[in-house]
Amino acid sequence: MTAIGIHDLELATTHHLLDLGVLAERTGVDPDKYRLGLGQDEMSFPAPDEDIVTMGATAALALLDRNGMEGVRTLLFATESGLDHSKAAGVFVHKLLGLPAQVRVAEIKQACYGGTAAIQAAVGIVQRNPRERVLVIASDIARYTLDSPGEPTQGAGAAAMLIAADPALVEIEPASGLFSDDVDDFWRPNDSTTAIVDGRLSISAYLDALTGAWDDLAGHDGPAIGDIDRLVYHQPYTKMARKAQARLGEHLGVDLGDDGLVPGAIYNRRLGNAYTASLYAGVASVLDHESDLVGKRLGLFSYGSGSVSEFLTGVVQPGAASRTDRFTAALDARVPLTIDAYRGLHARELPSAQDVETPRVTEAPFRFAGIQGSARRYERR
Ligand code: COA
Repeated sequence: MTAIGIHDLELATTHHLLDLGVLAERTGVDPDKYRLGLGQDEMSFPAPDEDIVTMGATAALALLDRNGMEGVRTLLFATESGLDHSKAAGVFVHKLLGLPAQVRVAEIKQACYGGTAAIQAAVGIVQRNPRERVLVIASDIARYTLDSPGEPTQGAGAAAMLIAADPALVEIEPASGLFSDDVDDFWRPNDSTTAIVDGRLSISAYLDALTGAWDDLAGHDGPAIGDIDRLVYHQPYTKMARKAQARLGEHLGVDLGDDGLVPGAIYNRRLGNAYTASLYAGVASVLDHESDLVGKRLGLFSYGSGSVSEFLTGVVQPGAASRTDRFTAALDARVPLTIDAYRGLHARELPSAQDVETPRVTEAPFRFAGIQGSARRYERR
């Protein structure tokens, strides 16, 4: 059987960041609650001329610069920060990147699980025709109400991946474990710019889904826990991975420890929650910070509130050995926000009926220029 998986993976984030120490000062909370209790140091925050399209296009540009467009006939854009009920955000990316007309574009949604759904759909396309490659973009802005418990777990980022036969980075193995359940732990109504979240329920629903998906993987000839070398979890905040690891160990009656989680949390601690991109930022973080992974098996747990989850596994390929940390420079380059500037940006609303030109702030290759005639306008810088 042809090996199919992630051939290349690139991350992008925003112009701004908010240091969680600055947020703690405002909320009057001990900063250690955020740094140790949640495992988060910073969160990315978009400038007025950035959104899921500009981040997604930026990540994809770097990917295509390295790999070319040969065989790419599908672009799947996964997000839960959708900009339009009808038009896929990927169509804007298609234009910004100058992709040919002979590329199908669609958007996939199921909370933070959408990126994994897009990857599995892409694997199916490549299996039918191994000469095709699929561009998957997962891009999100996690935004909760000001002064809510979710506020320190905001963030923003995009992961672009090329799914291909004989992949250079990670071969996705055929067996996977699934678990879906209709639960009101997190959702965002069509008329709301922030998500509604029952934080406690989201944690217990995540952990129940984890053991449910693991059991399904085991029932479908998945590997034993001892045959998995690194576990990478969806990280709404990095402490969640520790909770997940402890629960999985308890479920299986083994001590999985915590140390293996450190490399996969390096980017996420600074990015904040990037919803669909979060798990794949974790994968990039592991690949970029561990040197001896070739041939090793990764266990990936993808959770999307609501809820749909999947436990999949992948084997690290030789191309991973030449990866280096490219993303820390992008994280370092972000411009810190004062608390007042952050709250001002957070409160900003853009009704689609009003024409608006956004200020020029971002230094990324693409910018959201504003709204004209109710349609979003983008430009290459
Ligand atoms: N020093 C160190 N740790 C501290 C601390 C301090 N001064 N103060 C609190 N903590 C710890 C708590 O003990 C807790 O750890 P634990 O989870 O291991 O028990 C952690 O910090 C968080 O504190 P808690 O009081 O539970 O936080 P909260 O109720 O304010 O909110 C969430 C936490 C996750 C519920 C909230 O951020 C949220 O709703 N986030 C969005 C939803 C989400 O991300 N869900 C995850 C699953 S998808």
